[in-house]
Amino acid sequence: MKIFIETLGCQMNRLDSELVTELLRMAGHEMTAEVKSADVVLYNTCSVREHAEQKIFSRLGADAVRKRAGRRQIVGVLGCMAQRLGKELPQKYEAVDIVCAPGQLFRLPELIEAAAEGTGAVLVDPARNETRDPQAEHRMDILDSTRNPAACSGEAQAFVRVMRGCNNFCSYCIVPFVRGPERSRAPEDILAEVKKLLAAGRSEITLIGQTVNSYEHTAGGRTTRFSDLLKLLSPLQGLRRLRFVTSHPKDFGLDILEAMRDLPNVCPYIHVPAQSGSDAILKAMNRGYTRACYDELIDAARQIVPDVVIVSDFIVGFPGETEEDHAASAELIRRSGFKNSFVFKYSTRPGTLADKKLPDDISEEIKKRRNNELLAVQKEIGFAHHQSYIGKAMEVLVTGRSRRSDKQPAPATAQAMQLMARTTGDHIVVFTGPENLIDQYTTVTITDANDLTLFAELQE
Ligand code: 5AD
Ligand code: SF4
Repeated sequence: MKIFIETLGCQMNRLDSELVTELLRMAGHEMTAEVKSADVVLYNTCSVREHAEQKIFSRLGADAVRKRAGRRQIVGVLGCMAQRLGKELPQKYEAVDIVCAPGQLFRLPELIEAAAEGTGAVLVDPARNETRDPQAEHRMDILDSTRNPAACSGEAQAFVRVMRGCNNFCSYCIVPFVRGPERSRAPEDILAEVKKLLAAGRSEITLIGQTVNSYEHTAGGRTTRFSDLLKLLSPLQGLRRLRFVTSHPKDFGLDILEAMRDLPNVCPYIHVPAQSGSDAILKAMNRGYTRACYDELIDAARQIVPDVVIVSDFIVGFPGETEEDHAASAELIRRSGFKNSFVFKYSTRPGTLADKKLPDDISEEIKKRRNNELLAVQKEIGFAHHQSYIGKAMEVLVTGRSRRSDKQPAPATAQAMQLMARTTGDHIVVFTGPENLIDQYTTVTITDANDLTLFAELQE
């Protein structure tokens, strides 16, 4: 069958979609980029903000219209919304045939087969308070450990999941409810997966987890912490770059920064969402750190890894956020010198602590203004950050053609086209070069910069 898949949300979801795609191909299906011609339409969904969910509801509406007009298509909702809404989905949205939560994805081929025979199905993961069957837990890892490393061959980059779930219960966040409790994978499984990917030609590995730096695995009386995992993987032959996302500030020990300093292929890049610069809001968010602790982490990072590149996330308009609280977030951005920040307007998620206890009392208008204000400050700081690289030589991994060159294909030839690349600090670099550099490493000299992009020339 021809299968279309659309992916929303975080790196976890991107990896899940990649693994699901491989699984479906191995089951004899073929992928298509067009919804209309597909026999099966899958959405790998995100619940983190209401906006992401609304997008899927409107897709399901359009699917229902096509189905009513006689188009026979199987429609499946995968991922976080599948877990959050479960059987409500087919009840409320007539187009939905399949619902498959994140921990059940390995069963997708059988679900599709059953749906083709007219039997829809809803598969959700155990709720947080239900006991988890160790056998089922093991099956959750099947998708990862049986992945086909040669899929997408030629590409240099790959994601590897080191942990699942989250135990933090930040008061705004749906993740602990939809992705379940925190479970770290065994280091030997991660090692084997990375080796497999390297043998298939990948050279940049990104370790992913909801709070990746909280990784901790104990077996046979031995505990492996995140910095131990970095030390275990770093010496592997062919591993040019080792990255990780996303980190929780409260679990960011100096041992991780020291590993970053001492291990040459561990990229000097950290994504540590601050969420707010105000102690009152951090407390209401249940983040587990104070503003002073966050400042200390940034200072330690810059001291131990002088070339470290830091990225953050912020939520504006959290319940009770005053203009002073908001100003503290702006000041935090200035003080920390982030490369970039992702800024989100607070959105109530059903069942979270904030939803139960705190009224969503900041108007949409104020949220919008605060969002724009933080972005404006970040733009200024990001500009200064990127400008500081002008004149420097940097090693980059070329990831593809730049989007701008897609729009102006005329001057592009195999010898010269606009290429897009990434530095070890995850800066976007645009430069002119030959097509055969794609998926290769090269050195460029930075000639110009704006708030988000470095512009460069290929070194002779
Ligand atoms: N409303 C707005 N933003 C949120 N995030 C998480 N939950 C919410 C919410 N309820 C943001 C946080 C997190 C990022 C992935 O999404 O900033 O770091
Ligand atoms: Fe969205 Fe969180 Fe699910 Fe990722 S884990 S898809 S960010 S709700």
